[in-house]
Order: sequence, then C-alpha cells, then structure tokens
Amino acid sequence: MDNIAWHDVQGLLLSGYPQLPWSVYLPFRWRDGAAEGARAWLGALAPRLMRAGAAGEPAAPGGAAAPHLQLLKAKAPPVALNLALTAPGIAAVSGAAALAPFSLEFREGMAPARGNGPVPRRCNVLGDLGASSPASWDWGGWNGNPSVDGLLMLFAADEATLEALVARELEALRRVAEPLVAPDNGGPLRLTSRLYDDLKEHFGFRDGISQPIIEGSPRAERLAENREAYRIHVVKPGEFVFGYPNERRVTSGRDDLRNNGSYLVLRQLEQDVAEFNRFVEQAARQMPDPSPLAVKCEWIRARLVGRDSDGVPLARASDGTVGGDGELARAKINDFLFAHEDPAGLRCPIGSHIRRANPRDGRGDDPEAALLLSRMHRLIRRGRMYGERFDPARPDDGGRRGTLFMALNADIAGQFEMIQHSWLNNRHFGDRHVGTDPLGHLDETEEAIVIQDRPVNLVLDKRKPFVRVRGGAYFFLPGIEAVRRMAQPV
Ligand code: HEM
Repeated sequence: MDNIAWHDVQGLLLSGYPQLPWSVYLPFRWRDGAAEGARAWLGALAPRLMRAGAAGEPAAPGGAAAPHLQLLKAKAPPVALNLALTAPGIAAVSGAAALAPFSLEFREGMAPARGNGPVPRRCNVLGDLGASSPASWDWGGWNGNPSVDGLLMLFAADEATLEALVARELEALRRVAEPLVAPDNGGPLRLTSRLYDDLKEHFGFRDGISQPIIEGSPRAERLAENREAYRIHVVKPGEFVFGYPNERRVTSGRDDLRNNGSYLVLRQLEQDVAEFNRFVEQAARQMPDPSPLAVKCEWIRARLVGRDSDGVPLARASDGTVGGDGELARAKINDFLFAHEDPAGLRCPIGSHIRRANPRDGRGDDPEAALLLSRMHRLIRRGRMYGERFDPARPDDGGRRGTLFMALNADIAGQFEMIQHSWLNNRHFGDRHVGTDPLGHLDETEEAIVIQDRPVNLVLDKRKPFVRVRGGAYFFLPGIEAVRRMAQPV
C-alpha cells in the first residue's frame, strides 16, 4: 500500500491532542465580497496548521518547518491549529464547481433548509426532531446562525495560552470572516471545550477509549505482532483519509480537493446529567437485589454504556459483574469481541451504547463477516466536553453542558449517518426490541431500555432523552495542499 502522506494530513486525524486539553472552536462565515481576502487568509494559515507528520516520513522529528505531531511530543509548540470548511465555505473560495466530487450529504449539510415543506429527510435520518430539531439549534440550524462556512479549531496546553491564541486568531479571522453570534451574550460564538484529566465525559464515564487504528499509521505498525487486536481495530486508511484504498478496496479523492482530507461531523450534544442520574437511581431502587444503592446504580450505568465508569468493558468482565477480574479486564480494555464472549448480551446488553456504536463481530450469524462489515462503519472520535462539570451537590444548577461530538470519516452517509440512524436510533437493533440508544437524543415517544438478564430481562422506562442536539454542521478537514489550492485565485 502507498505510504500515507502524513505531512499533508491535518494532525487531528491522527491525534486528539491529549497534550493540549484546552480548546476553542470558532465557527465563522466569510464576509460578503471578501473571497480574495479569504483566500489570502487560507494561504497564510496553511503552513501553520498542525500536521500529522513531518515531510518525508511520519515518525521523524524535525526536518520540517511546519508544526507536526512529533514536535508536540517534544513539548513545542504548545498549541495546535486546525481548519475545516463546509460546502458553502469551499464554494465561496473555490467556486461551486469545486464541490462536484464531494458527497450529496456534505453538499446538502446536516440540517438542509426546511422552508415551508415537510421535515427534510436528513432530520428524520438523524432523528433531529422535537427538542433536537434544527429549529431550536444555537448554530447550524434553521434560525439562529443558520449559515456556517468554516471552523477554526484552536488547541493549547493551558488556559492562558489558549486565550492569547484565540485573541490573536480572532483578530486575523475577523478581517475576512464574521464569527457566528453567541446566543447568550451576542459576542463571537466560542465553542469552548476541554479534555479532563480523568478523561471522563459529563455522565461520568471514561471516554475516547475505542478508536479505529489506521492501517499504515505508526500505531498500526506497533500493533503488527498482536494479530487479534490488529484484526479488531486496524482499518484501511480510505475509510478516513481520501486518496487511499478503503475496506472495499476503492480509492477516491486522490486527484481533487479531497486528497488527504476527511469529513468532520460536529454535533453539539447537550447532556442533562441530573436527569440521567435520577433515572439511574430510580431504576436501581426498583431492583429487588439487596446490594447497596450505589452498587446497583453503577450496575445500571455500566449496562447503559457497555463499560463501567472507569471504562472496563462488560463483555470482558469474567462473571458479568462490573469490573469482573479487574486486572485482566483493564489489560484487555478494548480487545474484546461479542459473538463468542457474549452472544446473548447477558454481560454487555445488546442495546448498550458501545455495542450499537461498534457491534464488532456481534451482528448476524457469521462473526467474520460481521467484523468485516463493522470495519466499514467506524468513526474516529475527537469529542471534547463543554460547560462546567456537574456538581452532585447542585444537581439543578441550570448550567448547560455536554459533548462537542466530533467524528472523522470518508463517507458521512455510510459511516456517521448509518451508525446514528440504523444502530443508535434503531429500536429493533440486533433483531429484537431493545429501545433506542440509552445515550441517544431521539425524542418522539416514551422509550424502554431493555437489559438482558436472567431469569427475565430488565425493562427500564425512559421518559425523555438525556441528550439534546443544540447545533452542528458537516465540515471537511482538508489536506494542507488542498488548503493551498483553495488559496489560489479561481
Ligand atoms: C452525549 C452523547 C454521547 C456520550 C455521552 C457518549 C459516550 C460514550 C462512551 C462513554 C463511550 C465508551 C468509551 C469508548 O469506547 O471510547 C462511547 C463509545 C463510542 N461512542 Fe459514544 N457517546 C455519545 C454519543 C455518540 C454518538 C452520537 C455516536 C455516533 C453517532 C457515538 C459513537 C461512539 C462510538 C463509535 C464508540 C466506540 C465504540 C467501540 O468502538 O467500542 N457516540 N461513547
């Protein structure tokens, strides 16, 4: 296989920047009539974008003037910049014809305009209805901040460095673009987000554990000796980066603006932690089991996600209890499959979040075929938290908090949308009634969450979702050379 041109790929594709836990994303609109200025800004930005690798080969530190991941490991520079553009954002600088190779869903956007017609098909596909309808989004939807051209992503090691970076970059950006407007104070909309030291999201679960590993990446090379893990996690590069073969052995985008780029799905998912905790506690109180309430709560929480709060996967917990034989479970925190280890979902429920989001070998009768199929529906997740952390002493503080969910993939319809629609939002996932994803946002009817158990299944009433979509857009994370091409006059 061709070597991947990591020096031309933006760093976010290969790393979630754990060294840079502070971040601000600035969604913006180009100013009217400022295409020339926008191109000049892109040209100046291109060499400053964080890349996945140095020119030449990925692992060699030094040798390139542009920032790349190896330098991050050497602690300099302490910041990273990445850029993504929407379809209108690309058309404005490169002309509408430049969009021809991009997919329909990207061109249409996450929330196609409704006008006076029926709810657009995409809202139905994603389940963006009711409280999660684009009608009430803060940005990217139908009302406030409907049009978005681009997203400047800024990452730093500490808050002060981040603030200085934001101030500098906002000033330069403002000459060619207008930031979107924050609904609360009318200032620039800053999507401020964090990775916490304990790597937990707001509901209290460790996140970011399971990621696909790109064939040809340094991590895949390190895994080469471990055949079982390689089989589960390593995926062809074309599933995420254009210009290389995907799992169907098809290469696309090598000769157009998509080369060395990836689609970036961004969703602002608000989390109602107090409601989630109340739901778990109520369900735990109804369990006849004499264990202490806290133990029962953790039992239920783990079954909603498929991992306990510390990330230990239930499918690997030896006797089905949370954590199981801890050391083994921890060591094998991600090298598990479902078909043989837990076919009936008695350890890790069929409808749990991780079993839907990546069913591994557990769908249908042929585990090998299922694993192959799962490899065609993977996402690289780069989500970060926004809002204050939840304080159990002040459960109803009115604070808005959630996940800035970010997924990278080369086929939005076949990867992100398929997972959201056919797996997370599917009441009959795994060919039986299991309700929709416990962490999902579907808000149509009363829901039931089914937990496989002996002697009978546990059925929990979920009266409303704990998650609500507040904004979002489909972006494209271009390769560096593509940014340079967009900077050229049309
Ligand atoms: C606020 C909403 C969400 C929360 C709190 C959440 C939380 C989590 C947690 C705690 C995990 C387990 C840790 C891990 O395996 O890394 C996980 C895994 C995952 N989630 Fe989510 N998630 C949310 C929404 C979504 C959405 C909307 C999607 C896709 C459309 C998604 C896709 C995934 C995938 C693919 C995995 C990895 C599964 C695996 O490979 O085993 N998540 N999520």
